[in-house]
Amino acid sequence: MYTVGITGASGMPYAYRLLKYLAGRRIPVELVISDPAWDVIRQELPAEAQEIEDREKWVRRHFGSTTRLWANTNWSSPIASGSAPSAGMVIIPCSMGTLGRIAAGISSSLLERGADVCLKEGRRLVLVTRETPLNLIHLENMARLVKAGATVLPAAPAFYHNPQSISDLVDFIVGRVLYQLGIENDLVKSWGSK
Ligand SMILES: Cc1cc2nc3c(=O)[nH]c(=O)nc-3n(C[C@H](O)[C@H](O)[C@H](O)COP(=O)(O)O)c2cc1C
Repeated sequence: MYTVGITGASGMPYAYRLLKYLAGRRIPVELVISDPAWDVIRQELPAEAQEIEDREKWVRRHFGSTTRLWANTNWSSPIASGSAPSAGMVIIPCSMGTLGRIAAGISSSLLERGADVCLKEGRRLVLVTRETPLNLIHLENMARLVKAGATVLPAAPAFYHNPQSISDLVDFIVGRVLYQLGIENDLVKSWGSK
């Protein structure tokens, strides 16, 4: 079981692709989405995914029954406790606001608490950050989180694999995220392979 958090940074195609991939492999996911993220989802996903009639129904429709959505204020969620088993958490995309609150240990939402739990339990925490340019506060927050055990994986796709489409660029980042979570995948070819 993995925890996935989605915050209001740009980069919703990364989150959508990751969740589709995990659902396709029937890997259980505990999902939490910040309020600002819902607005960015409406802006950035293709038209058919922009219709959000009911949040839980939307998640079920797109990612099936192995993905469970939690309200970002629901402290009874397993995400909130170190006693609930989890193989780690990815926040994709991760806003600078959420990054700063996690770095400060604020835990004012379930999503931030989930990240805090991962760090205190020594579990994998992958932050797919999206902002440019970066100010000193962003950089210091990243450094603080890396020192605490997190992995900062900027949403910065490479071009050496000769991408032909936006989905090639998205897959590059999602492949790297899956690799960080310990999930073998063929979304990105390893350097030197044919
Ligand atoms: C379309 C759109 C794109 C945004 N892109 C970013 C971004 O790339 N990085 C970022 O840190 N914030 C971005 N923001 C601002 C965040 O949504 C805002 O700071 C919000 O308070 C983040 O809250 P959250 O971290 O709880 O989701 C964007 C907002 C909108 C509406």
